[in-house]
Amino acid sequence: MAQHRLLYVVGARPNFVKMAPVVAELRRRLPDAVHVLVHTGQHYSDELSEIFIDQLELPEPTHRLETGSGSHGEQTARVIERLEPVVEAERLDLAFVAGDVNSTLAAALVLVKLGVPYGHVESGLRSFDRSMPEEINRIVADEFADHLFAHSEDAVENLRREGIEPERIHLVGNTMIDTLCRLEPRFRELGLAERLGLEPGRFVLVTLHRPALVDGPVLHEVLDQLQALAQCVPVLFPVHPRTRQRIADESRYPDVRFVAPVGYLEFLSLEADAGAVLTDSGGVQEETTFLGVPCFTLRPGTERPVTTRLGTNVVLGVDPSRIADVADAVGAGPRAHDVPPLWDGHASERIADIVVERLR
Ligand code: UD1
Ligand code: UDP
Repeated sequence: MAQHRLLYVVGARPNFVKMAPVVAELRRRLPDAVHVLVHTGQHYSDELSEIFIDQLELPEPTHRLETGSGSHGEQTARVIERLEPVVEAERLDLAFVAGDVNSTLAAALVLVKLGVPYGHVESGLRSFDRSMPEEINRIVADEFADHLFAHSEDAVENLRREGIEPERIHLVGNTMIDTLCRLEPRFRELGLAERLGLEPGRFVLVTLHRPALVDGPVLHEVLDQLQALAQCVPVLFPVHPRTRQRIADESRYPDVRFVAPVGYLEFLSLEADAGAVLTDSGGVQEETTFLGVPCFTLRPGTERPVTTRLGTNVVLGVDPSRIADVADAVGAGPRAHDVPPLWDGHASERIADIVVERLR
């Protein structure tokens, strides 16, 4: 086979988790190809970036664009401006973007305009809420992708409904679960909850970072409810930097344990041992479904309906008063659930099968 040149674009915490197994599998299957990893720098704090590259054993990025934070326009524009010359210089056969962050949108636009075919990992998710920045990012990334790698039938259905040609759509499963499966022995042996003095199965793990929740006054209602919950059951809250900036005074919630964001292995160790998880994260809804841990999602809906239908996820709406329901789940043990089809640790192998075949 001729020497192929493949590009992978990552930029934010969930991107690393989704892309790492794709990079690893394609490096294994195409050892003579050139594999170019671009880190846009959308996330740059060590706890959102370097720790993931290290724990997930991603290769050192070939290019670091160091775009950093900014408004949507600034951040997206900086990625576009800095990625374009890289894509031009690398003379690529195929590229990959993942998920729905601003770096995904920017990369999709650069690639389509330069005529480089790309695959979108985690294609087809729809919240049907266009006030969410991620919804816009996903729609654009899907529209121009040559290969749409979907993790569930729901996602395939959404793409079909939008008129995307069936030949572009591939139901491959969930690459986030590939990462989880690969690292399960390592995170299981950490026992972080016990090291933090928390009894496994008897605490609530919280993660919140969506602008609709944390950028407005509802955040303080949520925190008041967490304080009330923490009087019944321990509450551990690794706080995303966006949220950290909005919590005016942690001392108003003395029973909530606020900590800095933790690494992937640490977070999965806590997630697996939690009695329940309260979240607005996309990835966490999927991981808890796989692990069988009760998950409560503080959002109006979910773009991952399979996690509520088969999995452990309950959508609470943006209703802080419903946080009280979480206490009942703690101690009830793992919730009866099914793991969605193809969430089996082999999604990136299926992606690689398709890619290797197409490159031939
Ligand atoms: C981004 C994604 C969101 C994803 C989330 C995962 C977009 C529009 N949003 O949200 O879809 O769910 O990542 O975590 O792409 N900051 C730091 N250190 C960093 C990065 C950010 O302190 O490494 C702070 C900055 O003050 C920044 C704020 O966090 O302004 C928000 O960062 P940004 O990348 O704009 O969005 P996220 O909320 O992280
Ligand atoms: N995660 C982590 N540390 C944390 C919080 C989350 O490692 O303190 C992991 C989590 O296990 C999942 C990913 O980050 O793999 C999800 O990212 P995030 O919630 O930031 O983004 P979203 O999935 O909502 O886009």
